[in-house]
Parts: sequence; C-alpha cells; structure tokens
Amino acid sequence: MYLGIDLGTSSVKVVLMNEAQHILASSSQPLTVSRPHQGWSEQNPTDWIVATTQALDELKQHCPRELAAVTGIGLSGHMHGATLLDKGNRVLRPCILWNDTRSHVEAAELDADPQFRAVSGNIVFAGFTAPKLLWVKRHEPEVFARTATVLLPKDYLRWWLTGEFASDCSDAAGTAWLEVGKRQWSEALLGACDLSLDHMPDLVEGTEISGYLRTPLAERWGMGNAVVAGGAGDNAASACGMGVVTKGAAFVSLGTSGVLFAATERYLPNPASAVHTFCHALSNTWHQMGVILSATDALNWWSHIAQQSAADLTQALGNELHQPSPVLFLPYLAGERTPHNDAVIRGAFVGLAHSTERETLTQAVLEGVAFALKDNLAALEQAGSQLERIIAVGGGSRSHYWLKVLATVLNLPIDLPADNEVGAALGAARLGMIAALKADPLSVLTAPVIEQTFEPDLALLDPYAQSYERYRLAYPALRGLI
Ligand code: XUL
Repeated sequence: MYLGIDLGTSSVKVVLMNEAQHILASSSQPLTVSRPHQGWSEQNPTDWIVATTQALDELKQHCPRELAAVTGIGLSGHMHGATLLDKGNRVLRPCILWNDTRSHVEAAELDADPQFRAVSGNIVFAGFTAPKLLWVKRHEPEVFARTATVLLPKDYLRWWLTGEFASDCSDAAGTAWLEVGKRQWSEALLGACDLSLDHMPDLVEGTEISGYLRTPLAERWGMGNAVVAGGAGDNAASACGMGVVTKGAAFVSLGTSGVLFAATERYLPNPASAVHTFCHALSNTWHQMGVILSATDALNWWSHIAQQSAADLTQALGNELHQPSPVLFLPYLAGERTPHNDAVIRGAFVGLAHSTERETLTQAVLEGVAFALKDNLAALEQAGSQLERIIAVGGGSRSHYWLKVLATVLNLPIDLPADNEVGAALGAARLGMIAALKADPLSVLTAPVIEQTFEPDLALLDPYAQSYERYRLAYPALRGLI
C-alpha cells in the first residue's frame, strides 16, 4: 500500500493506493492563502502540518488496516515557495508562495546577471525562490540573518515526516539555484544571493528514498517506518500520475495556475521563450512547461464577483461550443509568467456593452485562459516541443465546455482520463511505490484510461483564431495603461 500527499495551494490531498495502483481512499483538507498586500501571497507552514495530520487522521478512521500496510510515501507540492527556518528549525515568517510577485525587482536584477539563465536554464521569474530571498534580505534583514535553512513547501512536510532536510530535482529546479542540466545546486547562484550549500537540503531524485516516517507519526497512524520518496513539484508529480514521462507526451493542467507541460528526452533550455525547463522526477529526464498564474483562479475570482459557483457558471453555457464571446478577458490577475514574464500587468475585460450578460463574461473568462494557454503552446513550440495531443487534468477539466474551448483554441485533441484521481497525489503515490519496491519507473508510470477525447471544432477554428489575434493585441495595449 502507498500514500501520495499533495500539498496544493487550496488544499492538502492524501490518497491511499494499492499494488494494482487503484486509489482506495482519499482525504483532503482546505488551505487558505493570505494576501496582506497587493501582489503578495503567503501561507503559514504550520497550517500544512495541521491539514496533513487531519487528512491522515481521517484516512485512519476509514481504512486503518490499509493505512497500516503502507510501505511507501510520495510527496508533491506547490513549487517555488520560500520556507525559512532558523537554526533551531523554527519557521521564521509565513511562506512566500509561487504566485507572490513582490520580488519582481529582485527577479529582474538576478535575471540581468547572465550566469542565472546560463546555469539554471530559465528566466528568473518573480515567483521563483531566489528573488524571494533577496527581497527578504533587503526588507526583513533580521529574518535573513537568522535563516539557516531554505525549504520548498513539500520539503518542509518531508522534514516533519522524516526529520530529513531533502529536496528532489524537479522541485529544486524552480528555485533558480539549480544547475538544471547537471541536477546539482550551484554554489555560484546561491552565492549571488548571499547563501551557500549549508542553507540547502540534500538533493535526491523523485524516485529515490529521502528518509523514513518518524516513529511518533508512524505510531499515531498505526503504520511502520515507511520510506518517503523524493517526490516532485506538483507539475512533475501530475505528469507521473498520467504517464507523461517520455518525449512527445504532454498535459494541460487547469488548476489554480494553468500549465502546459511537455516531457523532453534531454535538457533543452530556452529561456528566451519564457518556458520553464526543469528536471523531471525520473533521473536523467527533463521537461518544458509554460505556466500562467491564474487558470481556475480566474474563474473563482469571477464566481466570487458573480455570486455564483464556478460549476453553475460553466453549466449555464450548456454543452455546445458557442461562437467566441464578443468580450475579451485577459487573465493576468496576479501578473503573468509565460510568455510575458510580467509581474506588474493586471487583468481586464475588453468590449463590455449594454447587452453583455453574465454568460458572456463567463465565456470570456474561459476563453481568456485558453488564449493564454495558446500563448504557452507557441512558446513551447519555439522552445522545441511539438505537441500532438494533450491529457487534461485539474479542477477546471470538470467543465467539458472549457475543454471544448481549449481543444479549438489550441487546435489539438484533448484527452480526458476516466478517473479524475490522476493528478499530483496519484503521481506522488506512484513515486512512493517506485522508491519502496525499487521498481522500474516506466513500468509504474503508465498512461491513464481515456474516457473522452475533445476534438477541435473545425467549424469554429477560424472565429476562435480571430479572437485569439485580438487577444494578442490586447496585451501590449494593456501594458501601456498599467
Ligand atoms: C509552476 C508553478 C505552479 C505551482 C502551483 O512553476 O508555479 O504550477 O507549482 O501549482
């Protein structure tokens, strides 16, 4: 039996998986994000521990025998967050999350230092970990001075679970301190932020053992000292959940963020395209991805304004794909990563009229996210990834209307798995299984059964392509207004 723990932005999810890779039970506990200032986004690491404990306590209530049989645990988590500990391992300040853009000035500074793109293979985006540390050094120098260890969010959970400071290469790639091609920390890049290897956890691959469940926790849940695998950042973990591990395989994630992810056979950096080139969870493999900061986050924002649930809003559009909305929506509620690398830009509705109804705006929001992902497809193509079909994952993939929009905008077939438990938590459990059994990764990381494929709507390809052209023109115009 195996456990996958996915520390998401809006919830912690724990799944229990058997040897046949069926999910027997799952439990999830909500998390909140605090936004004390415009552009800031933080979580208290103690909340992650409380939520994970509650989720596991709940699993124990429902399936104590299965939990007792767990031999491997895998971790997945939202990437890039800066969790700062003092030398007594106490948390020094709330974790600054992936979608926090306060450090955009520091990011631009580091990005202007040519060794960052050359060594890490990526733009230093404002959401990455390195500029956050530079921001802390400048604005909270007493916190920086007391920082002994810098951990990514899921690695803080690992420390609590095992007592070990460790990270995996896929998540570590998002710090801007990793030599992504060589899969090792760069002393030079750490040094540019006045940090050293002493601040950083050990590195393992996602499929390797990083430690063992501590005895007090094992006793609480009636378990043995199960192995804890390296695991992965949430996108690489999702890829493991869907078997997206070999060249040509790709997925789109409609989660809080939106991600277009392609597995690659080699390290293929292309910072100029603003794609992310990160290590995959398997040794000697990499991937490219385009990331937009607000996908379901944009729909949830609109649902809050419209005072209707996201499900009700999307269902109101029916099942048939409409002509594109006359209103454009730019989903830059928290700035944008791929392709604009712009922390300052904000979103917009363009083209409102007296006749504009709620449905028109819902449609515009779904289309705006799809257009932003089309920008990401172009960036991935520029960086050398050729996508032929994509698997859909994430909360937003529950809307078939949204998937139809996306298939038509991207002009690619989109495969929807039969089981919606294919995401990061399953991927994490699979990594736990590989570590516990020392199994061949490719024999475990198989593709899901596909329930339905959404083909591009040929009759509407042109209208959507025209709308996308208008969308592309809107960004530079909006840039001039912000
Ligand atoms: C990836 C990214 C997000 C987070 C949260 O670079 O920032 O996808 O991992 O899901």
